Amino acid sequence: MEHLPRELVANVLSRLPSKVLLLCKCVCKSWFHLITDPHFVTNHYAVYNTLQTQEENQNLLVIRRPFFSGLKTYISIVSWNHKNFVSSQVLNPPYEYNSDHKYWTEILGPCNGIYFLEGNPNVLMNPSLGEFKALPESPFTSPNGTYSFTDHAGFGFDPKTNDFKVVVIRDLWLKETDERKLGYWTSELYSLNSNSWRKVDAVLPLPIEIWGSSRVYTYANNCSHWWGYVDDESGSQDVVLAFDMVKESFRKIRVPKIRDSSEEKFATLAPFHEEASIGVVVYPVRGTEKCFEVWVMKDYWDEGSWVKQYSVGPVQVIYKLVGFYETNHFLWKDNNERLVLYDSEKTRDLQVFGKYDSLRAARYTESLVSLHRGDEFSHKCFSCSLVPDPLLHDSEYHVSF
Ligand SMILES: *[C@@H]1O[C@H](CO)[C@@H](O)[C@H](O)[C@H]1NC(C)=O
Ligand SMILES: *[C@@H]1O[C@H](CO)[C@@H](O)[C@H](O)[C@H]1NC(C)=O
Repeated sequence: MEHLPRELVANVLSRLPSKVLLLCKCVCKSWFHLITDPHFVTNHYAVYNTLQTQEENQNLLVIRRPFFSGLKTYISIVSWNHKNFVSSQVLNPPYEYNSDHKYWTEILGPCNGIYFLEGNPNVLMNPSLGEFKALPESPFTSPNGTYSFTDHAGFGFDPKTNDFKVVVIRDLWLKETDERKLGYWTSELYSLNSNSWRKVDAVLPLPIEIWGSSRVYTYANNCSHWWGYVDDESGSQDVVLAFDMVKESFRKIRVPKIRDSSEEKFATLAPFHEEASIGVVVYPVRGTEKCFEVWVMKDYWDEGSWVKQYSVGPVQVIYKLVGFYETNHFLWKDNNERLVLYDSEKTRDLQVFGKYDSLRAARYTESLVSLHRGDEFSHKCFSCSLVPDPLLHDSEYHVSF
């Protein structure tokens, strides 16, 4: 094997999942150097996950939040090939998350295979390597005389400093009068490299209001995005707020009139064009037969480049979108509270059950990108194991916990 050209070995190894490559690292020195080489890590991410798509393998990371007191948060990786269900594995986080106060509300990711789980505590993880890291709490409190009610997180990668960053925007209310100043926000940023929080200096393009979580991860073009609106003399207008992870600056992106009102239509932001641009999926709030309209920004830097790309439906949809990826993969819950994947042709029951808005799902990718940074003592990073899913096919598991 020593005599095989390095390119050939790299080509073969980049087709293997991360867990297997962790074992391959121990085969010989040259394999160790190859597998830990940052170029190989980047290339493996692209090659391996593109192959999965080409072979029509679907892999999802699913979280079910505890919807009854005492239930545990359930994290699993669910896989299918082009026609059949393949496997489901449960990720055992290194802590117990079963109290009412410790759970995750959203999945943000994958970003190079890393996920940010928003909640209490905030967590970064690489499920394919089984790495799991709880973020320190932000030391910042609301300015004197104010308090914060909601916050909106963005997660992404800064390729310039090779750093994963989480930005949190918080609204501010005046304590004395209990009033909200429209568009009154503060923001702070966590960096994995420094394992600490700092204030964001950049000013927000005010006034702007942000809608609640979009459920879909919206990192594109080095920026994280939020769906929001501004009120002006012509009424309420949809806008996108972007935060550039490299420049650490905000930008307001104008959106044409793609829906009459937020009461009539939901709008969900999503990345498009292989994360080079963004788009919006629009669908009616009411009714169970729904059509989806997909709008895309053809050129990320040109606000005038929004076009209606396509529409699909009507299809039977009971609930809001839970996920959207690869330009035409829709995820939602059906009327049996089960997760459904729809790829513009067929609808598949993913055999994942969750009541009361408890399900979150995102594309699952394999990645060798590690969360470990420098000094492990100041930077604890735990490992967790993947085990076969004991709850699979057990339709009663939601009550038998
Ligand atoms: C905060 O404001 C109150 C009055 O509104 C004042 O008494 C207090 O000293 C202030 N605290 C700080 C840290 O500025
Ligand atoms: C992301 O940031 C890097 C580093 O500044 C830059 O080289 C790259 O072109 C940016 N990517 C995009 C899509 O803007």
